[in-house]
Amino acid sequence: MKTTEGKPGRNCPRCPRLVDFRKTWRQKEPTWFNAPVPSFGPVDARVLIVGLAPGVQGANRTGRPFTGDYAGVLLYDTLSRFGFSKGEFKAHPDDGLELTDCRITNAVRCVPPENKPLPIEINTCRDYLKDTIAEMPKLRALVALGRIAHESTVVTLGAKKSANPFKHGGAHKIGELTLFSSYHCSRYNTNTGVLTPEMFREVFKAVRRFLDGA
Ligand code: URA
Repeated sequence: MKTTEGKPGRNCPRCPRLVDFRKTWRQKEPTWFNAPVPSFGPVDARVLIVGLAPGVQGANRTGRPFTGDYAGVLLYDTLSRFGFSKGEFKAHPDDGLELTDCRITNAVRCVPPENKPLPIEINTCRDYLKDTIAEMPKLRALVALGRIAHESTVVTLGAKKSANPFKHGGAHKIGELTLFSSYHCSRYNTNTGVLTPEMFREVFKAVRRFLDGA
């Protein structure tokens, strides 16, 4: 059930499997956030980064996307290098870090078992991604992290996946928006060399150039 603001409530009941998982973690770790993780960053940003879903010990614990697990280390370092943040990322939500002209959300707001949301959960949560995009008046670019986020974003924007295939370093113009895509900055991808910090930085360099009109 959606709230009137188009944001999932703390007890969003829409995905039964994710609700059960949330209940388990609320019992195990009652001091953790354990709820749909809200987007982070200003609504008037020109860039929206779309991650996959909260990590259990990361955003699910801290309540801020990509905060508290390995995936955030490369992401926030890269955002800082390209002028998309102010302050120091210290991996907790009260570190004072501010995003500038950039916002971060997830394709799925609740933590899924084994970091793997089911297709029905991705489809169900898409309403919130749609609302997140719709509430950003200055939005010009999106950066999808990984194939699932890419495809969910393409569908959210009303485009066809076949016409907008996922490719690391790729960019698609969809209506007024440009969708950039990267391999996900997960520990697995960086440890196996699928994604190097340089490859990730190239994506954000392209986004920065695009915004600067270069
Ligand atoms: N943390 C998030 O918030 N999203 C991801 O995709 C991975 C880690």
